[in-house]
Amino acid sequence: MVDGPDTANIGINGEMTAADYFATNPKPASLDKQSALARAFIEQHAKQNRRVAIVTSGGTTVPLENQTVRFIDNFSAGTRGATSAEYFLEAGYAVLFLHRHFSLLPYSRHYSHSTNCFLDFMTHNEAGAVVVENEYQQQMAEVLKRYQKAKSENALLLLPYTTVNEYLWLLRELAMQTRPLGANGLFYLAAAVSDFFVPAERMVEHKIQSSEDFHQDMDTGEHGREPAAHMEGKSLVIDLDPVPKFLKQLVDAWAPQSMIISFKLETDPSLLAKKARYALEKYSHHLVIGNLLNTRKWEVLFVSVGRGERWIRVPAGNRTKSVSGMDGDVLENAAQREPAVEIESLIVPEVVKMHSELIGKGTLRK
Ligand code: PMT
Repeated sequence: MVDGPDTANIGINGEMTAADYFATNPKPASLDKQSALARAFIEQHAKQNRRVAIVTSGGTTVPLENQTVRFIDNFSAGTRGATSAEYFLEAGYAVLFLHRHFSLLPYSRHYSHSTNCFLDFMTHNEAGAVVVENEYQQQMAEVLKRYQKAKSENALLLLPYTTVNEYLWLLRELAMQTRPLGANGLFYLAAAVSDFFVPAERMVEHKIQSSEDFHQDMDTGEHGREPAAHMEGKSLVIDLDPVPKFLKQLVDAWAPQSMIISFKLETDPSLLAKKARYALEKYSHHLVIGNLLNTRKWEVLFVSVGRGERWIRVPAGNRTKSVSGMDGDVLENAAQREPAVEIESLIVPEVVKMHSELIGKGTLRK
């Protein structure tokens, strides 16, 4: 049982609480090591009175088996998080980057996307050495300069997760370590977090056999609950539990002194503002940034208590850029088009301004 920070979370209608969650789902093996790295990072920047953004990025997975062959994933390439992290660094913040393993990373993202593989930027010179193509020299030199600055200042710490369980343990651990930062801490929750999961007590150990000739007997476990995934005839039946909402705990108990920004992803435009307002009211944090799957690179909706609702949009004239695929063809698919201006270059300065105002007014709780 984990004591302390989660005990205020009372379950309604028998729903699992955060305290129940951490008592019944195992601590990841990597947590202590990641925690030590984060503690040293936070101490360094707290001493320097530097602001620190905890940026979460990428989707979380829900494994169906303990020895995982199959899993459910949440949509997110990590573009929002990785791009925003760069703009926070540019604004003078240190960044703790809590990201899905192998999703996009600050700086390397410019050369790791399917439309701009780093090899496409390279060539051989006359002596046969591998060098950067002339046309990319300036852009790459700029990215390299910013990357090396972040490295030399130890201003960027990369902490990976894969499963929703790893994410939640890590988020709680980091949040509880941000106290020394006081109001200088900021959470920017861009990760796409699973709403449903397989609790440890309902997880099968081995790969679920699809062939009827090899169906396993399903162990009901010590709590007598059925496994969350099993075969019925030729069909795989999956019955997931809801993940408790952690935002409330983050705001009230884990990091009450920090500015907290959550993202709201929707696909139905008529729901976005309503759901963003609902989240702000329910969790009482500082800002909800709403975005629609298909337009998220062009526009986002800011919803906050002090400033109401306002759209942030890539200005007309910067709304499209030609992007070449690996074969050199210009991509026609709307989902693959990119705006000429990264919307995070507009989002992050607004967030930084709001953070400064909150610090200035002394409204962040200590
Ligand atoms: O990486 P890209 O491809 O650029 O995509 C970026 C993005 C679209 C994924 C990103 O901008 C975004 O919208 N991220 C949030 C997606 C999401 O999880 O929305 P949600 O409605 O499921 O959750 C809303 C908030 O509740 C989140 O801040 C989440 O941290 C929080 N939450 C979610 C689940 C849970 N059990 N507890 C929570 O507190």
